[in-house]
Amino acid sequence: MTRLLITGVSGLLGINLALVAVEEGCDVVGWSNRRSLKGVPFEQQNVSLEELSSLPGALQSAKADAVIHCAAIANLDAAQQQPELARLVNAQAPGVLACEARKFGIPFVHISTDSVFDGSEGGYREDDLPNPQNTYAQSKLAGEQAVRQAYPGALVARVVFYGWSISGTRSLAEFFFNNLSQGKSVNGFTDSIFSPLYARDLAALLLEALSKNLSGTYHFFSRESLSKYEFGVALARRFGLDESLITPVQTSQGNLLTTRSLNLSANTDKLKNALAHDLPGIKEGMDGLFEDYQKGLRKRLADFLA
Ligand SMILES: NC(=O)c1ccc[n+]([C@@H]2O[C@H](COP(=O)([O-])OP(=O)(O)OC[C@H]3O[C@@H](n4cnc5c(N)ncnc54)[C@H](OP(=O)(O)O)[C@@H]3O)[C@@H](O)[C@H]2O)c1
Repeated sequence: MTRLLITGVSGLLGINLALVAVEEGCDVVGWSNRRSLKGVPFEQQNVSLEELSSLPGALQSAKADAVIHCAAIANLDAAQQQPELARLVNAQAPGVLACEARKFGIPFVHISTDSVFDGSEGGYREDDLPNPQNTYAQSKLAGEQAVRQAYPGALVARVVFYGWSISGTRSLAEFFFNNLSQGKSVNGFTDSIFSPLYARDLAALLLEALSKNLSGTYHFFSRESLSKYEFGVALARRFGLDESLITPVQTSQGNLLTTRSLNLSANTDKLKNALAHDLPGIKEGMDGLFEDYQKGLRKRLADFLA
């Protein structure tokens, strides 16, 4: 049985990945920072990535056969307001962990982001030139570079995703679901384009890539792209909610604190070819989100908060 270390296990991706990995027969050890989880079907430890010198010992104690590094300062505004912390957690810590994983000879998957690109063109391939537009994206690009330098055999997975989180408020899907189900009006950006995967689909793809020993940089995105407005409408339709509550607006009308890249549509041929199958589209993702809601996943995750 593979013993898998998942960092950021209390986060949106980490918790979904941990549950899928357990279902697939992995022995999971999950790290979080401040949040402690109760009733989870895996071992959980609190490890701060800010303590760089303690990371080698923590990794050794985890006795993992592989690492998927999901933890990050992933909130764009938080990163913008604390650039040094963002660089420490998102850039330096991944380099330290990757270096130790290389020494132990275990696979290392580093989670990065579509926002390394500036969003001026869209259709991004893995070897297109990054041009990050905010502190978060700059720190994530630096994290990619630190991981590649420390461990050339590592897998750098650029992702964007949605799903059910422990807080109930972490993802764009939850933003639309929470507001629309309470009859509240929201804005949906028509010029902000992305290619999101449902978190559990992304989790399964990451585990598949790990089992196939992929290394290098890959785009883990939906095979289809859409605007954030269209995403809200798709969710409203799937859940039987009122799509007329979503007002189509330009991102510039959103009064966002942090600059965002606009057209982050991406090309996923490299991953599709490596895995020898197509990647999920928007409908499959929405179906998964809906079916897991019906199975009680949202409530199950909320109950993990101690
Ligand atoms: N959400 C997206 O759509 C998206 C898009 C592109 C890329 N990504 C990338 O995907 C990964 C997962 O994102 P997410 O949305 O799941 O994140 P998230 O929900 O914000 O969770 C972040 C996780 O990182 C942990 N963490 C934060 N600061 C830490 C620190 N100083 N030391 C140790 N752990 C720390 C948090 O622990 P606590 O809960 O204890 O604070 C939490 O488990 C990140 O690498 C992010 O950059 C996300």
